[in-house]
Amino acid sequence: MVQRIVTGMRSTGKLHLGHYLGVIQNLVELQNKYESFFFVADWHALTTKYDKTETLRQDINDVVIDWLASGIDPDKATIYVQSLVPEIAELNIYLGMITPQNWVERDPTLKDMAKILRTKEGLNSQIGFGLMGYPVLMTADILMFNADAVPVGSDQIAHIEITRDIARRFNNIYKTDYFKEPAALLNDCALICGLDGNKMGKSFQNDIKISDTEEVTSKKIMTAITDRSRLRKDDPGHPDECEVVFKYWKIFGSEEQIAQVRSECEKGQRGCADCKRQLGALINEKLRPIREKRKYYEAHPEEVRRIILEGSEKARIQARKTLLDVRELIGMYQK
Ligand code: TRP
Repeated sequence: MVQRIVTGMRSTGKLHLGHYLGVIQNLVELQNKYESFFFVADWHALTTKYDKTETLRQDINDVVIDWLASGIDPDKATIYVQSLVPEIAELNIYLGMITPQNWVERDPTLKDMAKILRTKEGLNSQIGFGLMGYPVLMTADILMFNADAVPVGSDQIAHIEITRDIARRFNNIYKTDYFKEPAALLNDCALICGLDGNKMGKSFQNDIKISDTEEVTSKKIMTAITDRSRLRKDDPGHPDECEVVFKYWKIFGSEEQIAQVRSECEKGQRGCADCKRQLGALINEKLRPIREKRKYYEAHPEEVRRIILEGSEKARIQARKTLLDVRELIGMYQK
């Protein structure tokens, strides 16, 4: 039988190359092999941004448009918005009942989120009840579709552990084997670093967005750091110590291009500025088809909306079935 995967991305707005190379390309492959449920986790976004909702709708749209432009196919994968499948909230309630408080309190990923929140918003910022429930809600997302596996980055492993624990506890308490214990399917978010050599991230202002124009992309590449020990352009370079630019060449270039860049750089025949100009052109060339598709969806918001609404209805059909079973297993009053 085909295995099922579920994964969500918080609605953080336009996605960057780190997302594209690390996560989305992976999903584009996986959708051919698995029955796939991909959703925008807008409730999870609210756990920390409940007071910044002005851009929420646009952020959801931007994530879905980036997915579609990158090749996630609504005919293969079910694409939906978490809050448009309200059954997930009901499952969240049942799972919350059986989850010991200290399981969520010791979740390291949640502790990290709380730490970041405190540094950003000040020491007095309160951790909301909703944020404490983050791993339980995530468990509801996953168990709702009884996923076999969950494609995530390594920062999410602790959450998936809790998901497995909660699934097991549910099965024990209600004497069933209804829920599978899903496995994490790790993707490699560290594939591409940011322009400054650190992890690529929107809040670090070191990212290249899928949706950036070619001009912006080229300009950003010009700011990337290179071999710091190289002062003049005919000094011999050290591609392996070139912290960003040569790494990008290795991601985007052909074998031949990479070999040529290396040899010219080592011989002092290639200045860093020229090298970056060429790299910018190459990245733009690679992203051109995706960006064109992105423009198409931006110009056809009604089509994006239809995809979201149809996907969410499809997800609800499965969600209703699961809830009916879960209510029965727990012993809730049935209609
Ligand atoms: N917590 C995930 C993240 O921040 C997003 C997410 C929410 C998720 N629910 C999920 C991922 C369910 C996988 C499955 O990236």
